[in-house]
Amino acid sequence: MASASFGLASNLTSFSNNNFLSSSDLNSIQILSLFELAKELKIGNRRIDLGNRVLGLIFKKASTRTRVSFQVAMARLGGQTVDLNPQVTQLGRGEPIKDTARVLSRYCDALAIRTFSQKELEEYAEWSTIPVINALTDLEHPCQALADYLTIQENFGTLEGINLAYIGDGNNVANSLMICGAMLGVNVKICSPNGFEADSKIVEKAKSLSENGSIISICNDPSKAVKEAQVIYTDVWSSMGQEEEHLKRKEIFEKYKVDKNLIGLADEEVIILHCLPAHRGEEITEEALESESSQIFNQAENRLHVQQALLAVQLGGL
Ligand code: CP
Ligand code: NVA
Repeated sequence: MASASFGLASNLTSFSNNNFLSSSDLNSIQILSLFELAKELKIGNRRIDLGNRVLGLIFKKASTRTRVSFQVAMARLGGQTVDLNPQVTQLGRGEPIKDTARVLSRYCDALAIRTFSQKELEEYAEWSTIPVINALTDLEHPCQALADYLTIQENFGTLEGINLAYIGDGNNVANSLMICGAMLGVNVKICSPNGFEADSKIVEKAKSLSENGSIISICNDPSKAVKEAQVIYTDVWSSMGQEEEHLKRKEIFEKYKVDKNLIGLADEEVIILHCLPAHRGEEITEEALESESSQIFNQAENRLHVQQALLAVQLGGL
């Protein structure tokens, strides 16, 4: 893995105007360079003014962090966002994506889209002439993974060789953690109940992208998964769109709870991460979420810095 500090701008300019649909759309050098830029923006060492650029937000699902961090990121870059909630646009009345995407490309400079199927996101990308960003689909949450690994790097000073144990549903967040972690040399273990394991195609994809000896694995036993882990990560047992399965999932996932006992089995320096929103008492206890090991609110903050860096790069601000 080459050094990210060498030619930060030249590592990133090739990503200008590109889509960010999957964690694999950036390579390891670009991700590490993006983190350097995010850290400069975070401490105020660098100001980037994109000048009146506009990001369109198409959100079919609820959002606090993603929506607001994109809004604030654009404001800090001298631009703005426009809410394109499908309920108030013609999308909600069935206007095709291929028409919507071409029209919005004439008004906006980029689109951040939160929807259900990855295919739908890809259709937007196919018809748009502006960069499209995955703001969460059922398959991936790549902006989240960027903030997660930036937080881990800030805590440990490195990413290579870090052991991350994800406890819970093999969902979109788990998928992006595997893909991004593999490229960054992190050992990612996804621990889920039988039948709720991560998508095997994504596991294989992550393995194929592995750098610097990163080991990607899945397992079913939380106490084994957290052994020697420096990072314990969890997410809700039922993602958006799975609300009807919630009661059933609550029973199945009962043993996949991040609590004091589980944390006690991990590395002494372990940090706890959660993408939020959290369901206290389900996937994580109040005590674990509020513990000194929790980096959850720093992690949420990093959504802003890393997405500001991403937008600056995609919109040609370097
Ligand atoms: N973590 C995350 O994406 O949060 P929101 O659903 O609030 O955007
Ligand atoms: N897995 C969760 C993440 C929310 C940020 C969901 O898709 O609802």
